Amino acid sequence: MRFVILSRSRRLYSTRRLVEAARARRHTVAVTDTLGYQMSVATRRPELLYQGKPVGKVDVVIPRIGASITHFGLAVVRQYEMLDVFCANESQAIARSRDKLRAIQVLSAHDVGLVPTGFARGKDQLRSVINLVGGPPVVIKLLEGTQGAGVVLAESRQAAESVVDAFASINQSILVQAFVPEAEGEDLRAIVVGGRVVAAMTRKAVEGEFRSNLHRGGSARAAKLTPDERRTAVRAARALGLSVAGVDMIRSSSGPLVMEVNSSPGLEGIERATAVDVAGAIVEWAARKARPGPMRDRVRR
Ligand SMILES: Nc1ncnc2c1ncn2[C@@H]1O[C@H](COP(=O)(O)OP(=O)(O)OP(=O)(O)O)[C@@H](O)[C@H]1O
Ligand SMILES: [Mg+2]
Repeated sequence: MRFVILSRSRRLYSTRRLVEAARARRHTVAVTDTLGYQMSVATRRPELLYQGKPVGKVDVVIPRIGASITHFGLAVVRQYEMLDVFCANESQAIARSRDKLRAIQVLSAHDVGLVPTGFARGKDQLRSVINLVGGPPVVIKLLEGTQGAGVVLAESRQAAESVVDAFASINQSILVQAFVPEAEGEDLRAIVVGGRVVAAMTRKAVEGEFRSNLHRGGSARAAKLTPDERRTAVRAARALGLSVAGVDMIRSSSGPLVMEVNSSPGLEGIERATAVDVAGAIVEWAARKARPGPMRDRVRR
């Protein structure tokens, strides 16, 4: 089959591994820079060009769309969908998960544990949201944050209010979340591929830090999930319509709580921690789904 990976660079670990995995399974694979596409839209005649040439026959697209180019990247994925090419994640699902607030709103309609989360705009409204989630300690998060940047723990009301005021004064959208102390600086990431958990790890924060991000020095280890955690991860991915997803959860005293679902989960941390061939699992699943014939059941939203 002919695979196309949408990625800013072929040197990125995840991209390299997907290429390796596809080649090892005798597929042809091209890495294309998401920003190298041109498209034209006309009635019943969508066109997609890469570096000036029509894309030709493609069987599977694996989108790895970075947050900074979400809008354009999604347009490229959508154009492939218009051309009836199978995409490992649908553009709609990627869009749904990219917006943190939208994602938890969607998840809240499903049987998935969530960290109590408040949202508002403006200083005064945000102050009252602190109470809505149960009062301090609270975690305050920049809506656009990533890798633990813009995630602050406020232990007292005074601290919470000053953080809220500070973000509001620079017009940043934020979420206010109940702090889950039992997490003890640890979170759980499960990789879901085609409705199945293929690998899972815990990430533990360095001493004195509550954010477990690997970019903040956290350390990863393979994890064994409880049936409840496994179900939660699969349900969260399904609720957002993602076939490939990294589901981040915290282990609370009342069970797993989903924090976030990522549509382009990084493969390096999880493959190193678990020694699972996650790239291979993605490629095999996508090749199976994209195969023409009666096996094919593609959902269009
Ligand atoms: N409500 C909470 N209670 C306890 N710990 C939390 C809570 N929210 C976040 N954390 C810790 O902080 C870390 C960073 O938070 P989060 O994942 O929400 O932000 P991020 O990593 O910056 O965003 P993204 O995952 O989108 O890159 C989590 O991995 C978790 O360890
Ligand atoms: Mg995170």
